[in-house]
Amino acid sequence: MKILVVGTGARENAICESLKDDCELYSYMSNKNPGIAKIAEFKQGNEGDIEAVAKYAMENNIEIAVIGPEAPLGKGIVNELEKNGIKCVGPNIEAAKIETDKSFMRNLFENYNIEGSLIYKVFDNYEDIEKFLDDFDRDAVIKPVGLTGGKGVKIVGEHLKDNQEAKEYAKEVMDTKMGGFPQVIIEEKLVGEEFTIQAFSDGKNLAPMPAAQDHPYAFEGGKGPITGGMGSYSNKDGLLPFLSEEDYGKAVEIMEKTIKAIAKEASPYKGILYGQFMLTSDGPRLIEYNARFGDPEAMNVLPLMKTPMIEVCKSIVDGNLGNIEFEPYSSVCKYIVPDGYPETKYANEEIIVDEAKIESIGAKVYYAAVNQKEDGKVYTSSSRAIGVVGIADSIEESEKIAEEACKYVKGNLYHRKDIGKESLIQQRIEHMKEIRG
Ligand code: GLY
Repeated sequence: MKILVVGTGARENAICESLKDDCELYSYMSNKNPGIAKIAEFKQGNEGDIEAVAKYAMENNIEIAVIGPEAPLGKGIVNELEKNGIKCVGPNIEAAKIETDKSFMRNLFENYNIEGSLIYKVFDNYEDIEKFLDDFDRDAVIKPVGLTGGKGVKIVGEHLKDNQEAKEYAKEVMDTKMGGFPQVIIEEKLVGEEFTIQAFSDGKNLAPMPAAQDHPYAFEGGKGPITGGMGSYSNKDGLLPFLSEEDYGKAVEIMEKTIKAIAKEASPYKGILYGQFMLTSDGPRLIEYNARFGDPEAMNVLPLMKTPMIEVCKSIVDGNLGNIEFEPYSSVCKYIVPDGYPETKYANEEIIVDEAKIESIGAKVYYAAVNQKEDGKVYTSSSRAIGVVGIADSIEESEKIAEEACKYVKGNLYHRKDIGKESLIQQRIEHMKEIRG
């Protein structure tokens, strides 16, 4: 079977790894990712040029395309590929609105009585924003309605001093049509611990994966600017040390109801649904959905799949998805990023990855925002460079393996040493105990 994976990063490297033994693998990627290039036929090009991707897929008789990032989904890559007879793991433009249009997502919760939502309002004029924020008795979160690559969200108490300062930012989002809409969404700020659940969907059925927790802040102890995610962990029981089976079940139920609602309101959702939740004093509440695997969370779950990924892809496109089995191991992923990241100070610098050493200690390595040039050397681009993953019987052991692997990636780089460490996890447990009383 010929499978095409669209996308350039570590998430797509992990997807390719999960498929490589069972198919003829193709990749369409913007940079030359050496982790993908060594296992797939590939073409370099803009992944957002959906006609060019479809042309490449047709030239190579691709049967199924797996779409990694959200931007091509928002442009209708699935509609374009399906129009040309290529089946897809990824939602069409209508169903992808669950990520690309936050007002669609929140309205869906309201119209279909899906629990786990929060106080929100969509605005298209400044007078209403002013009035709302003057009367709002809690801290606000300001979000563009459309896609901004994770960079448009600002939170009172983190990026904004108070709700007064939030007014100015909300106006800027609306006036500049940030994310492509002349609107802004204002939500209540939730207090708790964030967690991720990713699930496969064939449009009717949902098959959830183990929960994971990402670490969005750049520096140890949860300090510094927000990034794309500096690393994540998962536990062998599929839960998290602060997340009970009941919490997990409630979050999955929210996702199941969402899939049913999207099918009625837009189109059946075929692909991966990423739920970012906050565990609050009254259970899981939905912060946002993504229409794809998480990055880094894909690297926690894909290497643990017992059910072959190729079988999962086939069952998604054929509409007969069943349960998906995972190996009962814990995992810790650490992202190694250029110094100065999320600023782009050290882009285009050479890094050296000792793959053989990393593999010899039992860790996995995935290439992210890097480019392998004609000289064969690997250079950073403007974002996260390398993901390393430790997999073992406990989070603690997995962390040690991942941390050891970081030693074998050299360059002007840094990573968070605290991700997956017992002390940080204990803080999360204590935090939830405090909140829940
Ligand atoms: N882990 C954050 C994301 O995938 O968007």
